[in-house]
Amino acid sequence: MKESGKSIYDLRHDFEKATLNESDVDNNPAIQFEKWMHQALEAKVVEALAMTLSTASKEGKPSGRILYLREYADNRFAFFTNYKSKKAEDLLENPFASMNFFWQELERQVRIEGSVEFHSKEASDKYFYSRPHYSKVGAWSSPQSKVIKDRAELEGLVTEFDTKYKTEDVPRPEYWGGYILKATYYEFWQGRKSRLHDRIAYTLQDDNTWKIERLAP
Ligand SMILES: Cc1cc2nc3c(=O)[nH]c(=O)nc-3n(C[C@H](O)[C@H](O)[C@H](O)COP(=O)(O)O)c2cc1C
Repeated sequence: MKESGKSIYDLRHDFEKATLNESDVDNNPAIQFEKWMHQALEAKVVEALAMTLSTASKEGKPSGRILYLREYADNRFAFFTNYKSKKAEDLLENPFASMNFFWQELERQVRIEGSVEFHSKEASDKYFYSRPHYSKVGAWSSPQSKVIKDRAELEGLVTEFDTKYKTEDVPRPEYWGGYILKATYYEFWQGRKSRLHDRIAYTLQDDNTWKIERLAP
C-alpha cells in the first residue's frame, strides 16, 4: 500500500523526547496520572482529555470509541454518556472497561483498566447542567447508537427539543449520565528510540497497595 508514492511500511516516527524510570514515578498511580495529565494540559496537547474507552459484550466481543474524561481523582475516572448506547449495553452485561490516552506531542500513552459503575445522580446533574445549551438539547435529540433514517430526522428532533426548552433550562434526561471506572491497573508508556520504549505498570494488590513493574516494550 502506498501513500504519496511511499510504501506505508516506511512511514515511521522515532520517539525521543523523554524517558520514564522506576525512580521517576509516584508510588500512587493516581498521583502519577494527575502529574502526566497536568503536563499534557500545560503542553496544550490536542484533545488531552480524549481517550479510547473499550468495553466488551458478555460474549467478550470488544468495542472501542473515543470519549472525554470528565473527572479524575483517587483512582476513579468519570465519563458521561447515554445509558441506552452500545457502550452502556456492554457495561450492563460486563462491567469492566479500559481507557487509553495517547498524547502524541509528549510521546506518551496511558492505559487504565478497572470495573465500572454508575456515577451518582448528583454528579450527572452537575456535569449535565454545566454543558452548553445545544449539548443538552443534543442529549434529548440523539437516540445514541440507534439506527436513524437520515440526517433530517436528527435535525428535526433538535428543532423539536430546542423549541420545547426555549424558555426553561434543559433538564437532564434520566437515560443520560455518568459512569465511574475504578482503576485496578495502569500502564504509563513513554516512547523511546528504536522501539525500546519505557513501560511502567501498576497492579492493585489484595492488601490495597500497588505493585510497580517494568514491562518490556
Ligand atoms: C473527541 C471525542 C470526544 C467524545 N466524547 C464523548 C463523550 O464524552 N460522551 C459520548 O457519549 N460520546 C462521545 N464521543 C462520541 C463517541 O466516540 C461515540 O460515537 C458515541 O459515544 C457512541 O458510542 P457507542 O455507540 O459505542 O456507545 C466523542 C467522540 C470524540 C471523537
